[in-house]
Amino acid sequence: VTARRSDAGRPPARFIGDLDTPVALVDLARLESNLGAMAAVARDAGVAHRPHAKTHKTREVAERQLAHGAIGLTVAKLGEAEVLVDAGFDDLFVAYPLVGPLKLERLVALLERARLRFEVDTLDGATAASTFLAGQGRRVDVVVSLDGGAGRSGAASPEAVVDLAERVAELPGLELVGVMNYGNAYGTSDPETQASIGRREGEDAVAIAAAMRARGLRADVVTVGSTPTARHAVKVPGVTELRAGVYAFQDLKQVSLGPATLDDCALTVMATVVSHARPDRYVLDAGIKALAGEDYGWGTWGRPQARPDLAIIRATEEHGVIELPPGAADPGWRIGERVRIIPNHACGAANMHDELVAVDGERVVERWPVIGRGRFR
Ligand SMILES: Cc1ncc(COP(=O)(O)O)c(C=O)c1O
Repeated sequence: VTARRSDAGRPPARFIGDLDTPVALVDLARLESNLGAMAAVARDAGVAHRPHAKTHKTREVAERQLAHGAIGLTVAKLGEAEVLVDAGFDDLFVAYPLVGPLKLERLVALLERARLRFEVDTLDGATAASTFLAGQGRRVDVVVSLDGGAGRSGAASPEAVVDLAERVAELPGLELVGVMNYGNAYGTSDPETQASIGRREGEDAVAIAAAMRARGLRADVVTVGSTPTARHAVKVPGVTELRAGVYAFQDLKQVSLGPATLDDCALTVMATVVSHARPDRYVLDAGIKALAGEDYGWGTWGRPQARPDLAIIRATEEHGVIELPPGAADPGWRIGERVRIIPNHACGAANMHDELVAVDGERVVERWPVIGRGRFR
């Protein structure tokens, strides 16, 4: 347990009321239930789970994910991989293109202690990685990726992925092992549309893998992602791996999409009412440096768990402002009262905190250092 400076000289907190704010709390029962539910989605489909650790960036949640049957972890950045390898995890997928010798040097250093694979989505990136790794006498597993709708990394079409795969397979220093897709159902709350995006995510990946095999290439790994598409994508025969992330905590974004409920949200940021200078306004000590800056265009930054009809409608660095809409019942919070906020995006919010405090109801059970915090390189 790492004592924080603000706790110095005080007895360890036993109840959440003993904690200084803003502080990130993880409800253990909800976490367990979320972990179990997604593990079952993968298991029932006969698909391996490799959860994305960017959501929590902690050893303790990662251990629980492995205890629920995960075969390894996914990360976005090498910095996350480094702290997780230091913490003893030895099978990681960097689901991100690794570009530049500074990154590749660090990858090579990690290979002493862990099995790693990474994403390639351009021939230039793959060629540069190949030259570097072959020069070091290394051969590292890679998957080629499709842009499945997020509009970020990934080759532009299934055909382009297969063509890329053919070239990558010839490169020394890289061992092509499969294909990655990441469907994007974040823009819809319609269950049918989500299902069809998820199915398409799986089908495209499986079709690419089949085309790769038809050209004599290896495609053992067919990996799909995402909490909103998971249960649809894994049912496509031929998918081998799921990389769900935010499911561990759930959040207002997931609730807005449909399948998650407010009662699933395991991560809250507990804040203190610091000002109530106007009758219709409560100001909390949690702004974007405690909740993260994602408003998703909603014009809100999180909602009180006990009053989800209210919202933080303005957030600056250290102030979160709740204004009562006309007709809303006044919560009657006193100055100094604690309010637990469900963030819009749990992954962003967790990353703002040095520690996550694991709680059983109001009881403090453990304090988990967010070892991947700030590890975005
Ligand atoms: C490449 C990749 N895979 C998997 C995930 C996990 O998605 P989610 O957090 O929706 O479960 C993400 C999330 O950003 C991602 O970028």
